[in-house]
Amino acid sequence: MRVLVTGGAGFIGSAFIRTTIAADESAEIVNLDKLTYAGNLENLAEIENHPRYRFVQGDICDAALLDGLFASSRFDAVVHFAAESHVDRSILSPDPVFETNLRGAFRLLEAARMHNVARFVHISTDEVYGSIDPPHEASENYPLRASSPYSASKAGSDLLALSYFTTYRLPVIVTRASNNYGPYQFPEKLIPLMISNALEDRRLPVYGDGMQVRDWLYVDDHCRAIREVLKKGREGEIYNIGGNCSLPNLEVIRRILEAAHKPESLLETVKDRPGHDRRYALSSAKLMAETGWKPLTGFDEGLARTIDWYRQNSGWVKRVKSGEYQNYYALNYGARGTV
Ligand code: NAD
Ligand code: DAU
Repeated sequence: MRVLVTGGAGFIGSAFIRTTIAADESAEIVNLDKLTYAGNLENLAEIENHPRYRFVQGDICDAALLDGLFASSRFDAVVHFAAESHVDRSILSPDPVFETNLRGAFRLLEAARMHNVARFVHISTDEVYGSIDPPHEASENYPLRASSPYSASKAGSDLLALSYFTTYRLPVIVTRASNNYGPYQFPEKLIPLMISNALEDRRLPVYGDGMQVRDWLYVDDHCRAIREVLKKGREGEIYNIGGNCSLPNLEVIRRILEAAHKPESLLETVKDRPGHDRRYALSSAKLMAETGWKPLTGFDEGLARTIDWYRQNSGWVKRVKSGEYQNYYALNYGARGTV
């Protein structure tokens, strides 16, 4: 099976490539990635010379590049991860978000349609459902209520992808996952930011009261779910993928401090994120019933593994935290101050 993975140099895409090459001997993977600030070929060092893997640097908005690549590679499937994936950056600078997440998705769907691809998995997020009051949780037909430029762009691309099934019968499947964590995650997201700051004895910036709830999914469990969907998912359908592990941010941060043997005095309350969603909650019952998938990594086990990885890979952390990251950090946190 020849698979085009977009955004494979990022956090989840690289985990998907590493684990799929190992899990499925029939998988031949081409990784198309623009290498934005979030793309890092170090994440794929262990398989860079593998005979069933090839990297192509390029932009999913580039129609000519896509046409040539689809014509020469004759993909059986596309797994589309490439995106601007960070909410805070989408608030500071929405332009690249709409360019990649909407125009890029459109270009890719067009290429898949023109070249008759047999399966197109569009990777999306539980953020499209917006904030959900307890005790409710979103099933796949829950209304869309995006709060940030990022989630609006993902909701838009979900609808676009599904319209390609309805209109052109392109075999599209949409997956919507909850918050991922694990090794190689860029330290702009909550868990790797808090781990790397704690290990460096820096302050841990908590937005608002820290009682916002997220459902945590270990990245390898997410990748296994995507492989199940690729094999057994029904065309034109949406599948939620949750970690079954809902926690308030403060609890997550306290567990990180405890596991890293660092004091609570590192916590610092800062100005809240505008439009901050209070709670995400989703049901994965459909995916479980149709494929037998369930998350296998408990939060404490996954967190311990993740902290250990960041401890062992201080060189990786140092490199990704240099340069552009410093400007982003000053821009996002400099203006927030301590509340
Ligand atoms: P990431 O930011 O770590 O990686 C994104 C990758 O896409 C990078 O390698 C980047 O270089 C590449 N990219 C960006 N723009 C591109 C373009 N125009 N052309 C080609 N490549 C481009 O993201 P992630 O956290 O791995 O998320 C991957 C996908 O999963 C995204 O679609 C995201 O919306 C979705 N998702 C993420 C989470 C999460 O918790 N991280 C949860 C649910 C869904
Ligand atoms: O729910 C899935 C989504 O999870 C994905 O679609 C996104 O790509 C991914 O970035 C993530 O979005 P969140 O906004 O939930 O993740 P983030 O790690 O940015 O923040 C998680 C929570 O932690 C959120 O309530 C904001 C809070 N937070 C975050 C940062 C970076 C803080 O309190 N302080 C921080 O410094």
